[in-house]
Amino acid sequence: MRRFEIQTDRLLIKPLGPEYLDSTNEYAMNLENTKYMMYLPNDSSDETMMFLNNVEIEWSKEEPTFYEFAVIFKKKHIGGVSVYIEDDAGEIGWIINRKYWRKGFAYEASKALIDYFAKNLGFTHFTAHCDTENTASFKLMEKLGMVRTGENGIRKNRSAQKESSEYQYELKL
Ligand SMILES: CC(C)(COP(=O)(O)OP(=O)(O)OC[C@H]1O[C@@H](n2cnc3c(N)ncnc32)[C@H](O)[C@@H]1OP(=O)(O)O)[C@@H](O)C(=O)NCCC(=O)NCCS
Repeated sequence: MRRFEIQTDRLLIKPLGPEYLDSTNEYAMNLENTKYMMYLPNDSSDETMMFLNNVEIEWSKEEPTFYEFAVIFKKKHIGGVSVYIEDDAGEIGWIINRKYWRKGFAYEASKALIDYFAKNLGFTHFTAHCDTENTASFKLMEKLGMVRTGENGIRKNRSAQKESSEYQYELKL
C-alpha cells in the first residue's frame, strides 16, 4: 500500500506514526478528551508509542486492515481520524484535541476521508459507533449523513466504572 495524504481547505490528513508521539499524548492521555472512548486514555507515553509503532507497521503493509491518520492544521497535529476495515465496511473513528473542538475540523476531516475512500478505494459502506452520551460524536455522524441503525449496543469505556450503551450509525453510498 502506498502511503497517501488528503488535502482539504484547512487541513492536511496524513499517515499517523511515531513522529507524532507528543501531540498524540496531548489528547490520548487526557481524561476529558477521551471520556467516551473504549481504548483511551492511555496510561503512559509508552502505551501511545506502542500504538503509533503498530500504526506505522500497518501503513507499510500491502493491504492494511486499518488506516490511522494525523489531522494537521497550520502544521500542527490536532487530532486523528481512522478507517478500520470490518467485513465489507469501513468503520470510521475520530478524536480532536479539545483545544480545537467546535471549529468544524472533525467534520472537514471525516467528510474528506469518506469521499477519498469511496472514490479511490471503492468503499460504499461506512459504519461508526459511539457512547449514547457522546452527543458531539453522534451529531457529527448525522452531519455526515449517517443514519442510526442500532441503539442497543453495550460498551465499556476505558475510564468508566461501568458499562454504558452504544449507538451504531451507517452510511451506504
Ligand atoms: C467528536 C469530536 C471529534 C468532534 O470534533 P469537532 O471538531 O469539535 O466537531 P465539529 O466542529 O466538526 O462539529 C461537527 C458537528 O458535530 C456536532 N458537535 C460537535 N461538538 C458538539 C457538541 N459539543 N455538542 C453538540 N454537538 C456537537 C455539531 O452538529 C457539529 O456541527 P455544527 O457545528 O454545524 O453544529 C470531538 O468532540 C472529540 O474529539 N471528542 C472526544 C473524542 C471522541 O469522543 N471521539 C469519538 C469516539 S466514538
